[in-house]
Amino acid sequence: MEKIILVAGATGNLGNRISRELIKKGAHVRAIVRTSTDSVKMESLKAIGVEIVIIDMSDSDAIANGCEGVTCVVSAVAGLGDVIIDLQKQILAGALKAGVPRFIPSDFCTDYTQLIPGENRNFDLRRAFRKHIDTTSIQVTSIFNGCFPDILMYNTPILNVKEKSIGYWGDKLNWKLDFTTMDDTAAFTAEVALDDAAPRNLQIASFQISPAKIFEEVKELSGEEYKINQLSSLDNFAAYIKKQRTEDPAGENELYAKFQQGQYMYSMFTTQHTDLANNCYQGLSWTSSLAYLSRFVK
Ligand SMILES: NC(=O)c1ccc[n+]([C@@H]2O[C@H](COP(=O)([O-])OP(=O)(O)OC[C@H]3O[C@@H](n4cnc5c(N)ncnc54)[C@H](OP(=O)(O)O)[C@@H]3O)[C@@H](O)[C@H]2O)c1
Repeated sequence: MEKIILVAGATGNLGNRISRELIKKGAHVRAIVRTSTDSVKMESLKAIGVEIVIIDMSDSDAIANGCEGVTCVVSAVAGLGDVIIDLQKQILAGALKAGVPRFIPSDFCTDYTQLIPGENRNFDLRRAFRKHIDTTSIQVTSIFNGCFPDILMYNTPILNVKEKSIGYWGDKLNWKLDFTTMDDTAAFTAEVALDDAAPRNLQIASFQISPAKIFEEVKELSGEEYKINQLSSLDNFAAYIKKQRTEDPAGENELYAKFQQGQYMYSMFTTQHTDLANNCYQGLSWTSSLAYLSRFVK
């Protein structure tokens, strides 16, 4: 019998991809969406066979009804505390009422279990929800994909194609950074959602690449030698981010505030995925760094 997987956040960038992958694998996908969700996004999900249930997200009984027959909830919602903590708690309450056995929270980031609380605001929100869900009986799997490599295209200090520069903090020229494409993350997540024996934590990476290796691959693709910048010590970077945060109170209400972007980069240079689960499921293919960089480095 086909499994029913409930996806929250299916209208989002990642959630849409996860829903597609689940359907490819023969699952029945039920998306719970809020009343204000864009109808065009709902129609595009319906067109690929997703069942849409419009729900008042403050009503855990309604969520429980939506969870009937569901074997796993996949959450790919995005937001601050009202979403990552409050909304996910609400979805979890509905799932527990309905007796859903498994839950994949909207972690989809670097493995924050190895990081110090307080260093990354958005990871702290995930940590708070993790603490809550781990007090319940539901079986949980967190997927840690590192960073979506899209940031390599955005001319950040790590890779700036416009200025032809590559940067690193501290002495981390050869430090490998974890990147997983959104498509690879979605394909892996669909496998996990259908695997009743999935463990608590799964680290993945399409590719792990150091700034030094980025230099080499950019050279191979473009024939150009980008300037390599040693940016500052990691301690100075942390102090800079702290100052940036203090000076930007409005950023507390922004998902990707400037200081948050710094915190993501700081996290990438202070933790690594050392126990990759890439080979847990057969038939997945992982995007290489060279293939990814070739999309925009010419
Ligand atoms: N590792 C990385 O580099 C990286 C980068 C980006 C994102 N992420 C993570 O990936 C996950 C998905 O992100 P995304 O970029 O796909 O997000 P997105 O495109 O912004 O989509 C967010 C989804 O959450 C839903 N949502 C938000 N607030 C809601 C609320 N109050 N009630 C109900 N639904 C709500 C949205 O529904 P509506 O359609 O109704 O708005 C939408 O379906 C998140 O955990 C995000 O932090 C990771």
